[in-house]
Amino acid sequence: MGQAGFHEVATLVRRRAGIVLTEDKSYLLETRLGPVLAKFQLGSLGALGEKLRGLPGEPLERAVVEALTTHESSFFRDGRPFDHLRGLLPRIAAARSGEKLRVWSAACSTGQEAYSVAILATEVLGLAAAQRLDILATDISGEVVARAREGSFSQFEVQRGLPIRTLMQNFQQEGTRWRIKPALRNMVRFEERNLLTDCAALGRFDVIFCRNVLIYFDAPTKTRVLEMLARQLHPDGVLYLGAAETVIGLTERLMPVPGERGVYGLAARK
Ligand SMILES: C[S@@+](CC[C@H](N)C(=O)[O-])C[C@H]1O[C@@H](n2cnc3c(N)ncnc32)[C@H](O)[C@@H]1O
Repeated sequence: MGQAGFHEVATLVRRRAGIVLTEDKSYLLETRLGPVLAKFQLGSLGALGEKLRGLPGEPLERAVVEALTTHESSFFRDGRPFDHLRGLLPRIAAARSGEKLRVWSAACSTGQEAYSVAILATEVLGLAAAQRLDILATDISGEVVARAREGSFSQFEVQRGLPIRTLMQNFQQEGTRWRIKPALRNMVRFEERNLLTDCAALGRFDVIFCRNVLIYFDAPTKTRVLEMLARQLHPDGVLYLGAAETVIGLTERLMPVPGERGVYGLAARK
């Protein structure tokens, strides 16, 4: 028999976020949901399950989903997409000649991905041209979006992926923490947004990062999200997925860029 409350919790996170929680992950429930149980004065996971079967209300549902999403991130994570973007940015900036270049960090977690793009654009294009970038960073979790918006990182966080020179040039030390400089902070807009919702209002992007989130979804949800991203991509735009993610077998609207891992573009219309 599964852990008390597991079924109700798994049903909720799947419905709201698309995240599949398998029974082998049920050990996560106890540790991650402990603070939620305390906050909502629920004595056990069984009591939470019962509450979720009734009318739990928005705050409890949100808190459960927040607690069960994984927010792992780091600056310049996996390296390769950023190496590719370094070569791509000058080309698309030239092609757009003065128009805003639009980048979307979908599922941005605490903001390292979006700030990595801002830092890289400044290095490649110079600050004035980089400031013409419109970088939108979104996540389903209001908590991580608020932290990302703050732009303040611990020593541990900046040590993951930032060479000391890049850190010194782009961050200001505040006690034991490091804050991204205002010029870079102002290049990024943060919004709470669920990838399962219609994102048409966001308009088209030249570059979309959607990394390390599809791994939590089942195949139909991956297809749904990938096809939504395809609709938001400019015809010559580029989509970066995580190292363990692909479009193969999920959609024919996106194709791998030959010779590049994790880089996708729109397939030619048949
Ligand atoms: C592991 S982090 C990845 C962060 C970053 N993209 C990276 O690769 O470093 C996954 C993020 O996806 C977010 N997420 C999960 N389900 C989501 C959904 N349905 N819509 C938007 N964001 C979602 C989580 O809140 C979490 O911050």
